[in-house]
Amino acid sequence: MDKLVIEGGKKLQGEVPISGAKNAALPLIAATLLAPGVHVLRNVPDLRDTRTMLKLMGHLGVEYRWDGDVVTVDTTKLHHGEAPYELVKTMRASVLVLGPLAARLGAARVSLPGGCAIGARPIELHIKGLKQLGARCRLENGYVDVTTTKRLQGAEIYLTVPSVTATENLVMAAVLAEGTTVLKNAAKEPEITNLVDMLIGMGAQIEGRESDVLIIHGVSQLRPADCAIIPDRIEAGTYLLAIAATGGEGTITHCNPGHLLALLEKLRAAGLVIEEGKTTVTVRPPVLGKKLGSVDIITRPYPGYPTDLQAQFMALMTLADNESIIKETIFENRFMHVAELQRLGAVIRIDGNTAFVTGTMGLAGAKVMATDLRASSSLVIAGLAASGRTEISRIYHLERGYERLVEKLSGLGAVIWKEKEEEVM
Ligand code: UD1
Repeated sequence: MDKLVIEGGKKLQGEVPISGAKNAALPLIAATLLAPGVHVLRNVPDLRDTRTMLKLMGHLGVEYRWDGDVVTVDTTKLHHGEAPYELVKTMRASVLVLGPLAARLGAARVSLPGGCAIGARPIELHIKGLKQLGARCRLENGYVDVTTTKRLQGAEIYLTVPSVTATENLVMAAVLAEGTTVLKNAAKEPEITNLVDMLIGMGAQIEGRESDVLIIHGVSQLRPADCAIIPDRIEAGTYLLAIAATGGEGTITHCNPGHLLALLEKLRAAGLVIEEGKTTVTVRPPVLGKKLGSVDIITRPYPGYPTDLQAQFMALMTLADNESIIKETIFENRFMHVAELQRLGAVIRIDGNTAFVTGTMGLAGAKVMATDLRASSSLVIAGLAASGRTEISRIYHLERGYERLVEKLSGLGAVIWKEKEEEVM
């Protein structure tokens, strides 16, 4: 297994390009299942998760080819509709094939994802919605079995929680249903809009784009897509926070600043100087004489502050001038990074879903362990800002969601490399 070694304390500076969004690429790859033929997906990030999703597609009988960041997916032949445990356990988003397979094949069998490092993460909203669309769903031997005797039927569905992947699954199921589906309290993350736009390009009839009520008029068939993945707002935010934490000055390029408003507002509140271009954002340290200020955040569904940038913001706040209060409202157990940040000298107290972060004069490098994807990136940020050497083990978590991380950070002047982890008996 590899570990990441960082010699911290260097101010990051320069430009870093942002890749396509992992959380958009995954549902868009799944959506190709809806129409037989050759689909073209552009700006696809080369990540462990996108590779896992394509492996799952291959398992279903789909053929695909990478050509740089363009992935061509041929969904003409589908052998069967089963997503096995071995794939689902490594990536919960495998559940995204449920909706499209139910719609196209009338049958799908997907392993239940189970818990994960950040909480229980149930999928009952996906299942309830599919039932409302007329599918039969059974839970058996750790699998959810979805069958339909006829075409799915449009329905009115209310999501008690605006779940991102449930919204995506149900939209994908409803586009081929008979009649109209009204999906209320839908999630409206930009990745969902990316999916909706792709589906419209394939011939789907969807109203309410970017809103929390999606009206889907089912059509009998769709055509293959040619579609680009939006820039990754979480990767973008991670680099802005990394640059800010080191006191550096840098620009993220190839991004959509409009998707980053909640973060940019918090960065400005902390005293950082932010300049937005059309596809760029520049971050500079607070003006002379000012220190990095403490800012509170509460994670919320989009357009609120994203839970996927909570850990990284906390890393920045360990360096601020006062106490910052960070409240996590989306996932029940998303403070796994706290104990690791404490190893670097952070002063953090947790009370339920709230973390109280006291700014310190600085962090010091240490050996830490990556626990989940975003927690890991907060450790990278802290390690870059800390004095001395930080070693992060279990970096396969980072490889799930950050394309060319070492290369991109090196381009900003970070001293960072991968090393083989020595086995301890
Ligand atoms: C997606 C993102 C993930 C992000 C999360 C929240 C992908 C591939 N992953 O995950 O990076 O952290 O959104 O922005 O896009 N819930 C239920 N019942 C369900 C489904 C969800 O109660 O059936 C709850 C969850 O426990 C959680 C909340 O809804 O409290 C939001 O989760 P959800 O939006 O479903 O997250 P994911 O779609 O899994």
